[in-house]
Formats: sequence, C-alpha cells, structure tokens
Amino acid sequence: MRSRPWAPAFPTLFGAPPSTVATAPGRVNLLGEHTDYNLGWVLPTAIPQRTQVELRLHSPEQRRVRVSSSAAPLDDPQVSEYRLGHETPTHRWLDYVQGVTQILQREGVALPGLDLRITSDVPLGSGLSSSAALLVALFRALKQALALSLSDVAIARLCQRVENDFVGAPVGILDPMACGLCQPGQALFLDTRDLSYQTVPLPSAVELVVIHSGIVHSHGRDANHTTDEPVADYRVRRGECEQAAALLGCTSLRQLQEDRTADARIAALPAPLAARVRHVRSENDRVLQAVALLQKNTLSDEDLHALAGLFAASHRSQSEDYQVSLPAIDVLVALSGSDPGIVPGAARLTGGGFGGSIVALARSGHGFAAAARIAAAYQNATGHPATILVPQAAFDPKTGEQP
Ligand code: GLA
Repeated sequence: MRSRPWAPAFPTLFGAPPSTVATAPGRVNLLGEHTDYNLGWVLPTAIPQRTQVELRLHSPEQRRVRVSSSAAPLDDPQVSEYRLGHETPTHRWLDYVQGVTQILQREGVALPGLDLRITSDVPLGSGLSSSAALLVALFRALKQALALSLSDVAIARLCQRVENDFVGAPVGILDPMACGLCQPGQALFLDTRDLSYQTVPLPSAVELVVIHSGIVHSHGRDANHTTDEPVADYRVRRGECEQAAALLGCTSLRQLQEDRTADARIAALPAPLAARVRHVRSENDRVLQAVALLQKNTLSDEDLHALAGLFAASHRSQSEDYQVSLPAIDVLVALSGSDPGIVPGAARLTGGGFGGSIVALARSGHGFAAAARIAAAYQNATGHPATILVPQAAFDPKTGEQP
C-alpha cells in the first residue's frame, strides 16, 4: 500500500494557518524487549525522525474533526472527517485520532471540532514506534491548544489505553513513555511496573546504527495498515506470558525476577512457555547489567565488549527463546555484528519483531560507513531493501551527495 510522499500545507487544506504545532520522536529500544507487558525494565532512546501534528480549533459548537495525514494510503481522501461523540473504529489509521478524541471526551474534556494535519518521517511498521509518536504528538498538540493539565506519564497512559481499547492493539507502555520522555543521546531506564525512570547517558565511544530490514511488521496498529492484519503473533506472545504467569501462580512474570528458586518450576512449564519466560527473565537481567555499565563515567574497552555481549545475547534470546525474529533479520544482525565498524556482536532486533529494524553500536565516527556496508550486504544476501535510519547521512553541500 503506497502513501502520499507529501501533504499540502495546512492553509491549503483548511483555509487558515494552524494555531498549534507539536511533535514527538520515534524511539529505538536498546534492550528490554517484550518485558514491558510483563512489568519489567526497558531501555529506549529517541531517534531523530519525528511526527508533527498541526492543529486548529473550531468554535465550541462546531463538532467536526477534519484530518489529513501524509501517511494515509493514496486511495484515502485527502481529508478524512468524523463527528465528535461519534468515534467508531474503522480499522484504519484514523482510529488513532478517533481514539484520542474519544478518550479525552470520556475524561471530561470539552472538545471543540478540530482541523489536523499530520506529517511524519518515522517509517511505518519499522519497529520504531510510529503509532506512539503520532499519539504523543496529538496529545501534546491538544494539551497546548486547550491548556490541559497532563503530565508526560499521564499522556503515555492515555496513549496505551487508546491503543488497547480503541485501536485494539494489545501493546505495553514502552512506546508512549519512550516517545514522550526520551532525549537523543540519553537512554531512558524505565521500570514499567511503577513507571519510575531515570536517564542514563549513552557512551561517547559509540554511536547508534538503526537499519530497517524492509520487512514491515504490524502489531495490528500501524497507521498505514488496516488493523486486522497479523496482530496475531504479538498477541500470542503476550498470551503465552500470561499463561506462564498463571501456571506459576504469579500475576506477572516480573514477580519471578527476584525469585531464583523458581528455575525448576519454570523449566517444567510446557513448551514453549519455559522458553518465553527464560527470554523475559534474561532480558530483564540484561537491561540491569547494561544500565550498570552505562552509569560508569567512562566505558573501558572491556565494558564496551560486555555491552556488545548483552546485545548479542538479547538477539539470540529473541530469536531462539521468544521466536520474534525472522531469517532475514537474523542475517541483518549477523552482518552487523561482524562489520569492522561495529563493536563486535553489538547488534539486535529492536521493537516488537516479526520484521522491522535492528539496532547496533558502532565505534564513534564509523556509524554511517558501517551502516552503508551492512545495508548493501544485506540487500545482496536477502533481496530485501534496507534503509539506514540512524545515523542520518550528513549532506555534502558541494556535491549534494551523502557520504
Ligand atoms: C512493541 C510494543 C511495546 C513492546 C515492544 C516489544 O513495540 O508496542 O509495548 O512490547 O513491542 O518490546
């Protein structure tokens, strides 16, 4: 399905300029995959790609919402419309907007009609949180325009409810917390059990590489997809974790984290539940170990190798125990981990899986060249088109070319 590469300016669409503009970034999760809905720890950071929402309020009696999105499929009308109070799931991108206006009204906010223009360079289905970037930017725009008192954490909780209850995607709290709170250059160490968090600096010795595999995933909630596409896999994993927790007599797998006596009971779970729990527990440990390393002021070579080892182990665990990788993604990770510009082994699938992007740690200054080599080798090996999303290529003003 193709989307519009551009969108007409706000005044062209709606006859007057916007009164409010808000943005939110996409995110890349460094470690802590599929731990959030098990109330564990995550470690995301922001990517440079952002979603922008421009907004104009109508008069209070006007109940019409008009929305234009650059991510809308080409066969959608340029402007979609609905009436406040009549939000109805369509299983399409408009549900994100409808879910937001519905939840705010249910929370007692008196919304007037709205004009909205959405633009984004967070690629859809890339595992980099295009949906949460849209939701957070939209809540931010409405907060600003209507002077709502909403903290970043309150916005994240509302975003998750929109996804779970209106869009129908059973996602955790990682993405809206990350898109709402992450700063580039810093990782957000978040405990999803109580939403306490702290920022940890990313080491200057490394730079992030993020490459999209060209395989678009859908957890049933990417703005360019109908929402009845394969939501199944993510939902199945989530269900398996709930089933394992119930069999082990706990309300969430997080309860097992501190209980090292549970090993034998976990090993006795029926397949594949034991492997799923093994992933969640070991992934939580890896987040804690990575944070301990990142909190050192300067990372030695040995520390960097330890960090790389955590990335490599995380990918193995996602691929073998949690089974959310794909053969082509395993190729992309292997090529990345063995590239001379990457800290050996420091590459893993990021996000919900079944497609999407990988994240790797390059030695500072080597990121783009490494990413270019990896993308070319991957394309050769698998036939899938790779897109380098981070680092963003510097533009050479003399030649007009990327390095
Ligand atoms: C998706 C979900 C998140 C999280 C990740 C996996 O991005 O939206 O809540 O579960 O997958 O870590």
